[in-house]
Amino acid sequence: MNKWARWLQSNGPGRFQLAYKGGWDAFVNAAPRRDLDVLTRAEMARLDEVSLEDYNEARMVWNANLPTVKTHQLAAAFAVIDQVMASNRRDSDRLRGSVVVDAAPGLGKTTIATRYARDFHRRIMRRNPARTTSGHQRLPVAFVPLSAGMTLKGLNQKILAFYGHPAADRASSARLGALAVDCVASCETQLIVIDDLHFIDFRHRNGQEVSNHLKGLANEMPVTFIYVGVRLKEKKFFDEGVLGPDAAYAQTSRRATRCEVAPFDIGTTPGAKAWTDLLRAMEGHIKLAEAQPGILTQHAKLLHRRTQGHIASLTNLIDRACYLAITTGAETLTADLLTASTVDNAAHSATRN
Ligand SMILES: Nc1ncnc2c1ncn2[C@@H]1O[C@H](COP(=O)(O)OP(=O)(O)OP(=O)(O)O)[C@@H](O)[C@H]1O
Ligand SMILES: [Mg+2]
Repeated sequence: MNKWARWLQSNGPGRFQLAYKGGWDAFVNAAPRRDLDVLTRAEMARLDEVSLEDYNEARMVWNANLPTVKTHQLAAAFAVIDQVMASNRRDSDRLRGSVVVDAAPGLGKTTIATRYARDFHRRIMRRNPARTTSGHQRLPVAFVPLSAGMTLKGLNQKILAFYGHPAADRASSARLGALAVDCVASCETQLIVIDDLHFIDFRHRNGQEVSNHLKGLANEMPVTFIYVGVRLKEKKFFDEGVLGPDAAYAQTSRRATRCEVAPFDIGTTPGAKAWTDLLRAMEGHIKLAEAQPGILTQHAKLLHRRTQGHIASLTNLIDRACYLAITTGAETLTADLLTASTVDNAAHSATRN
């Protein structure tokens, strides 16, 4: 077996199931990928067919996993979450606040929440034994991604499923909520991330039930919640679905701190600098025989036009352009290649308008 096939065995795409404690734990403790040497064209020409295929596959895995960059958006969101988490040090009979990461699709919301929660998890595990005083597995973080048509029962089942609780599918609705509270208490969970909260319609009765239940959980559990979703403000999450003057009575609005995530805007000098900084942080990662410093930054405007400054569209475009650079033998990213690479549908429609 050649060295790239061996590399692929231990560095292939990670398949973390973050919605279950085992998968979350694997994500938190995953070792970084081992670095790969870049071969020159001459060295590549000397490889046999199979080795070249494996080398290219290994580079594609590497290139498709750009590092998480400490963007301005990520740093600003972390600062807000840090402040809200300051109340996490309150005694458990006092209510903690919550954070709502609320923005359009593909701006790095889930990345912000999972990276914050991962750092938090590692810190708590460093300071505490793996078992709680009551002998349960310590789980400082629970990650609960929602899906379409979420009901109260479904939410509790998702929480229990994270903890691997055997009653997740069996218990009655009323019992599920109590079991969820038990899991959180016995595993000493301090932070719960609820992702894709936009799957709940807060104007509908089901959604209002979930919203009330979330408030109830926040009352009962000594945890801070990070809620993540698309356009939650427009979806009336903060007003708990209530319209008109009564919306002022919505407790969520008082308890939750909203954290927006904006796309990159190169219309201002600091904005343009932030975009170039992002591209610079990513370009060092790209493994192509003729990748040079500036491989991305020199195309800053083109990349912005094709992605409208949405980080998810950018990483997709770079993955695909790197793939084309390898398969066509270009071994670098030219303007033609970046233009030829496909982007997601939203970025494509926006570029044409
Ligand atoms: N800070 C970052 N550094 C590098 N890449 C990032 C960063 N944030 C996001 N990305 C890239 O953007 C992609 C989408 O990010 P993420 O899933 O966090 O966005 P999202 O806002 O949650 O999207 P959705 O609205 O679809 O849920 C990630 O897979 C990653 O490739
Ligand atoms: Mg997301």
